[in-house]
Amino acid sequence: MNDISEVDYGPLKELIGVWKGNKGIDIAPDPDGEENNPYYETITFTAIGDVTNADTQTLAVLHYRQIVQRKSNDDVFHDETGYWMWDENTKTIMHSLTIPRAVSVLAGGKHNGEKTAEGFFVLEVAAEQGDKDWQIIQSPFMRDNAQTTAFSHKITVGKGKLEYSETTTVDIFDKIFEHTDGNKLVRE
Ligand code: HEM
Repeated sequence: MNDISEVDYGPLKELIGVWKGNKGIDIAPDPDGEENNPYYETITFTAIGDVTNADTQTLAVLHYRQIVQRKSNDDVFHDETGYWMWDENTKTIMHSLTIPRAVSVLAGGKHNGEKTAEGFFVLEVAAEQGDKDWQIIQSPFMRDNAQTTAFSHKITVGKGKLEYSETTTVDIFDKIFEHTDGNKLVRE
């Protein structure tokens, strides 16, 4: 690994820092249909340097931790961690995540490394079951009872603001459910 501060994190660089937001809306599966949970959260992105794979691929890496609390009772009801990785050579961003339901995702997407005309990086990644590149791993219980079949995530970040929306497709309670989450955050 190189010195953390000397690494170019490309389109991920604006993510670094501690972010807070209290406008979150979660729509989650429920046996009777769906539940709608307003939330607030803290997401901490930490630059950790770069790694080299097979002597040829170099990834610039951020670690993150996302702690989400329900507005109604302050309970932490979603706790997520993982990495965002940038491969400058192939212009690929990768997002690995794990949640304590025994579900993990490696989502990927392309990025030209440039900001929009308005000064934001737009990061888009996706994974789908059966995809040859970007995949989902889950426990036997989740595979059989609450299977995640697809995941997509879009972040727009810049000027001290971060907005995201993500969709997790879950096969649960005999239906295919679009479990969605989104929030607007500011850097501390
Ligand atoms: C801000 C992000 C998220 C929040 C606040 C959130 C919250 C929730 C809530 C409240 C439920 C219903 C739990 C219950 O009542 O049983 C749920 C279910 C579920 N979530 Fe999430 N979720 C988030 C992101 C994700 C992600 C990223 C994944 C996977 C990639 C995921 C996978 C699942 C699955 C598989 C279930 C079904 C489990 C069940 O209801 O038995 N969620 N989530």
